[in-house]
Amino acid sequence: MNNTPKENGRREFLKTTAAVGSAVYLGSQVKATAQTSSETLKKETLAINGGSPAVKSHPANATQWPIYGDEEIQLVSELIKNPSYAPIAEFEEAWKKHFDCPFVKAHCNGTSALTSTLFALDLPPGSEVLVPDYSTWFPVVPMRFLKYVPVFVDVNPKTMNIDVEDCKKRLSPKTRAILPVHWYGVPCDMDLIMDFAKEHGLEVVEDASHAHGAKLKDIYIGKWGRMAGFSLQTTKPLPAIEGGIAMYKDIRDYERSVTFGNYDLPRTFPEDSPYRKYQGTAFGGKLRIHPIAAILANIQLKTLTEKNTKGVAQMKKLNDAITQLPGLSAQYVRPDAERVYYSRNLMFIDEKKAGASRSAIVKALKAEGVDVTEYQWTLLHTYPIFSENKWWDYMPVLPKEGTPKGCEEANRTAISLPYFTTEQPELVEQYIHAFQKVWANIDKLS
Ligand SMILES: Cc1ncc(COP(=O)(O)O)c(C=O)c1O
Repeated sequence: MNNTPKENGRREFLKTTAAVGSAVYLGSQVKATAQTSSETLKKETLAINGGSPAVKSHPANATQWPIYGDEEIQLVSELIKNPSYAPIAEFEEAWKKHFDCPFVKAHCNGTSALTSTLFALDLPPGSEVLVPDYSTWFPVVPMRFLKYVPVFVDVNPKTMNIDVEDCKKRLSPKTRAILPVHWYGVPCDMDLIMDFAKEHGLEVVEDASHAHGAKLKDIYIGKWGRMAGFSLQTTKPLPAIEGGIAMYKDIRDYERSVTFGNYDLPRTFPEDSPYRKYQGTAFGGKLRIHPIAAILANIQLKTLTEKNTKGVAQMKKLNDAITQLPGLSAQYVRPDAERVYYSRNLMFIDEKKAGASRSAIVKALKAEGVDVTEYQWTLLHTYPIFSENKWWDYMPVLPKEGTPKGCEEANRTAISLPYFTTEQPELVEQYIHAFQKVWANIDKLS
């Protein structure tokens, strides 16, 4: 028996869906509470002014991640006793089945998974790739080795995802591909992106590192583009401590991508594969996932849907309640999309509608015990590597206007709240109380 807090946390959370219940029911229940108590809330003293904080304490397991248990411990121990690479193929088979996709390759991390898909695109030197400015550098910096040119594009400030309208403005005769990123688990407008790509003959590779199991129009994120890469790093929705995986629709993409980082696999390709002859040398990368990571990922995959569903339901309870407050909104999710959560719950404050500045509100919420910060993402184009000639055969294209409008708005308005990964009904209620209390007393914030 294992009674570690980790294992308890997981069981507790997995027990919960029934308790979390239907969003409609919970939403209306919260609304009723809010309506009946607004006068009382006004009489409460804000913690920032010496009152008692609304959030009493954060249980240690509230944001615990990753959540591993006995099965992981047992299978990793067995691997240590009998070292083997077998868990890699087992994980890849499980992933193929789960996502119903023909070709996958596990990698040592998301960066290598994405870089090998970009290599598989086989674009001519100087090809431009549209990437959101509001993103991570991981798959973007390696473009310099491939002689690709990142072109930084604005995001929709309500979703924080790449803005298709802005993509249109940044097109050039050299544009060849687009790399959408599903920021914090919110699906990009993949239907619009695919239409746009088709119209202009562009390839699409999805960076699905925050969005394992998310869907748009009932299609898994990662299955829209020609290829996709996922990080399996420790904070991600499917955590293997360190790891990655790439998905392919076409066997030649798979073979080329696999040959980028696996010296020992070309011999497994069909006789007519143009990549078979590179058995042994491959193309210079060695990007194999560690079998321990493959074991962790494979076990986590079994509960991915369940964890996503319960996590989303719990955050919906919180967000449905607090977004009734003026000027507070969550990352926008289309009605035909199913988001997942990655690491944090990002929201936005419209200062005018809320009646106080973001910083004053965050300060007051913090005093109430809320784990909240003003969210500020460093825009990719501002990193020195993208403007120094010596690193690039073809220079990246930086936004001419400086800071793109959507990125600026996202950084000006966003706040970051925790993603509760285990069942926390009391904490959710206390968070709702904290927000309602601060909003009821917003006139007292200087
Ligand atoms: C959006 C995004 N893409 C790619 C990566 C790279 O993944 P990894 O850290 O596994 O190499 C990350 C990692 O944080 C990420 O957030």
